[in-house]
Amino acid sequence: MEYAVRGTVVIAADRINDELKAEQSMGAESKYKFQKIIYTNIGNPQSVGQQPLTWPRQVLALIDLPDEEGINHPNIQNIFPSDAIARARTIKIGLGGNGSGAYSHSKGIKMFREDVCTFLQNRDGIDVPTDVENIFLSNGASAAIFNLLTSLIADNKCGIMIPIPQYPIYSASVEQLGGQKVGYYLDEKNKWNLSIDELERSLKEALENGTNVVAFVLINPGNPTGAVLTKQTVQDVVKFCSKHNLVLLADEVYQENVYNEQDKFYSCKRAAYDCGLLETNSIELASFHSTSKGVFGECGRRGGYMELTGFDENIKNQLYKLASASLCSTVNGQCMTSLMCRGPSPDDVSYESHEKEKLDIFNSLKKRSKIVNDGLNSIDGFSCQPAQGAMYCFPSIDNMPMKAINEAAEQNITPDTLYALSLLERTGICVVPASGFGQRPGRYGFRTTFLPSEDDMAYSVNAMKDHHKEFCQKYA
Ligand SMILES: Cc1ncc(COP(=O)(O)O)c(C=O)c1O
Repeated sequence: MEYAVRGTVVIAADRINDELKAEQSMGAESKYKFQKIIYTNIGNPQSVGQQPLTWPRQVLALIDLPDEEGINHPNIQNIFPSDAIARARTIKIGLGGNGSGAYSHSKGIKMFREDVCTFLQNRDGIDVPTDVENIFLSNGASAAIFNLLTSLIADNKCGIMIPIPQYPIYSASVEQLGGQKVGYYLDEKNKWNLSIDELERSLKEALENGTNVVAFVLINPGNPTGAVLTKQTVQDVVKFCSKHNLVLLADEVYQENVYNEQDKFYSCKRAAYDCGLLETNSIELASFHSTSKGVFGECGRRGGYMELTGFDENIKNQLYKLASASLCSTVNGQCMTSLMCRGPSPDDVSYESHEKEKLDIFNSLKKRSKIVNDGLNSIDGFSCQPAQGAMYCFPSIDNMPMKAINEAAEQNITPDTLYALSLLERTGICVVPASGFGQRPGRYGFRTTFLPSEDDMAYSVNAMKDHHKEFCQKYA
């Protein structure tokens, strides 16, 4: 299996990073023209400077501290706001006196799962049913995705439809579990939208090849594409899955990262409800969310959840058994999921500051998405679809020199790996070759996040421009 976001280019970046540090500590002259590596390879906001939100960390700290050092300390009111103390107290009761160091129920602490249900009802509307027994808290979205794929792939004939390009957890996990990847292409020229004709084409071809296609993956907002799908498209997808009896995996970890007011996030669950598929029990849907993205960026906490809709009781029990085999997800991650789903309420003292911190991060992400998108589009030979959502730009390099393509073949690497390594050596910017996500044959490019600081991103786009000129001259 391959996992490009931590692959060849990142390993080279880490090596150069160590060299730079060694040179700097010895005061030696550097062989590089830059002082540091700018990591834009992975959607890990706090690793590149994003500050954690204050209130969730306050609550978490109080949950972790022994009572007498925390919620019951005589001076605690002087250090922590009253609503953080009150929430920590409630959570400690919900933990059943076990504290955050004990295993929890394998689906996660019930009180937190109830917070997820409240969040879902606020998002999709009170009329869309939720059930606490259908919520599984997980170590990020990744663990839940892997468990579900494990349950779906019975043998090497089982196929999972995945977008091209896609976030590599899908290709890697399907590979690891011995299933078949059934790719469907997203339409770059049409803002990376998907078309039902292409879904039908891909499914038909797989069935003709003898693949038993069992599930469909939708990533919305898209990684690496940044596309935010319209209401109509999401409805088309749920109908497609219902018609062909495919389990729908709705990867919605970027649901808070939608930057244009006209593009509203519309969940697969709401779409299934609006299309009457919930009422008739004619879809099996697993939706995923995470504390790693949005404005929380708490990747290291490993918080997230999976919601099952329309699954048979027997299958749910099997999934529960699978979750039980790893005992439980991290309790700190579960706490963070609860705090993401239910922040301070409007009359709490921390409400305004919490909302302001969230908005500041959101606005800065929006600004950086524009800096990077505009910057990439200003490079001769590049084209980049608008980053409507998520945390990435995925430009196409339309004038990759033939000599570079040949050189890459000689080195037994893809042309965009050659390109990304050259960009790294020349500028210190670490991107992921587009081939790691899948793309149409003959297309070349890379994925960059827009997570480093506004200054670093402004430097990066200029450096990318200079590098592209040099690269094209070198291989002219
Ligand atoms: C589309 C998508 N799904 C899932 C994940 C996994 O995130 P986590 O396991 O941290 O929740 C990521 C991480 O970047 C992602 O981009």
